[in-house]
Amino acid sequence: MLDRVALGVLPEKPHTVFRAAADGPLAGALLQEEMFTRGGFDGPYSYLYHQRPITAPIEVATSSRGFPVARPSEEGNHPLRRRLYHAPKAARRGAMLEARTSVVVNSDVALYVLRPDRDDDVLFANGDGDELFYVFEGELELESVFGRQRCVAGDYVHVPRSTIHRWKLLTATAELIVFECRGGCVIPGNFRNPVGQLKLDAPYTHRDFGRPTAPIATLDAVAEGPCDVIVKKGDRFTLHRLAHTPLDVVGWDGYAYPFTFPIEKYQPKTGLIHLPPTIHTTFTGPGFAICSFVPRVTDTHPQAIPCPYPHSSVDCDEILFYVRGNFTSRKGVGPGSLSLHPAGIPHGPHPGSYEKSIGSTRTDELAVMIDTFAPLVPTTDAVALEDRAYHESWTL
Ligand SMILES: [Fe+2]
Repeated sequence: MLDRVALGVLPEKPHTVFRAAADGPLAGALLQEEMFTRGGFDGPYSYLYHQRPITAPIEVATSSRGFPVARPSEEGNHPLRRRLYHAPKAARRGAMLEARTSVVVNSDVALYVLRPDRDDDVLFANGDGDELFYVFEGELELESVFGRQRCVAGDYVHVPRSTIHRWKLLTATAELIVFECRGGCVIPGNFRNPVGQLKLDAPYTHRDFGRPTAPIATLDAVAEGPCDVIVKKGDRFTLHRLAHTPLDVVGWDGYAYPFTFPIEKYQPKTGLIHLPPTIHTTFTGPGFAICSFVPRVTDTHPQAIPCPYPHSSVDCDEILFYVRGNFTSRKGVGPGSLSLHPAGIPHGPHPGSYEKSIGSTRTDELAVMIDTFAPLVPTTDAVALEDRAYHESWTL
């Protein structure tokens, strides 16, 4: 939900007769309008124009396809301690639809690690929430009713709830994380002016985002392609076998569509002294904020301590995904590590790092963080990824 995009062919006015050419491959067919709306009919929306009706599934059945959904482990966060997980330990491979290992979950958001090694062979629509991916390694193509988008390491990829899509790998494997955001995931409202334009002091500009560039189908050929859509709703998977591929959109316009955002286009802020993590906010949703820590100049006061201060954020849980850098604040973590600091248990830099940081002028760390108000509960599948010595790593 960035700004309006218009691609392909469109009728002059919505909800009016729009036909393919009589002498073309679609033989004058009436194109089928689909309204893709958010927030009932009050939120952002897009109009899509399909070659053929999308409303007639020829088969509906429960499906064994999909990924193991995030289930809170029985012991939850007990005993309460700082925890560390390593994404590369996740053994589950396959297509994006299946190669997910859950890490933490609450009523607002679930976090999964993805390690795909093949293309999706069916389409997927997640009705349980917006999905915000972060591509850690590799390169993929997102193919959706809105078009194709190339996604590379360092990109956030926002896929709106119920967007019909599939993923293709452009490298042999890829490494990602995804936040499944039950109440949606948006650009914070305070980054926009009254007409919706990103404000001059927002940490990104409209030019920084990637959007679909063309619909997949045209009026020059009858669209062919996958007809099976796996739908996730209420953490259960259903197969909808359609009579025709839904990737037959020849034009669309609107505000609701997938987008990409390269994390290193995030414009960080620096102060005289250390600024709180909130200045790294990138996306928000009900109950959470997602922050981007990117390479930046550190504080300018001659006596500043640039390293993050030890803190007890007692109303929030936080999980930090380390992408790259020297991670001066912690030892024992590396690319692909995820640290969970629940319930404001005091945490901060590794012993010694705090003092050592005095006088440094920049940091090259790259990381993604989510802060939540509802507690994040480790999942049953997260046990296999955990480094259980982490809590004691603060011991001098
Ligand atoms: Fe923290």
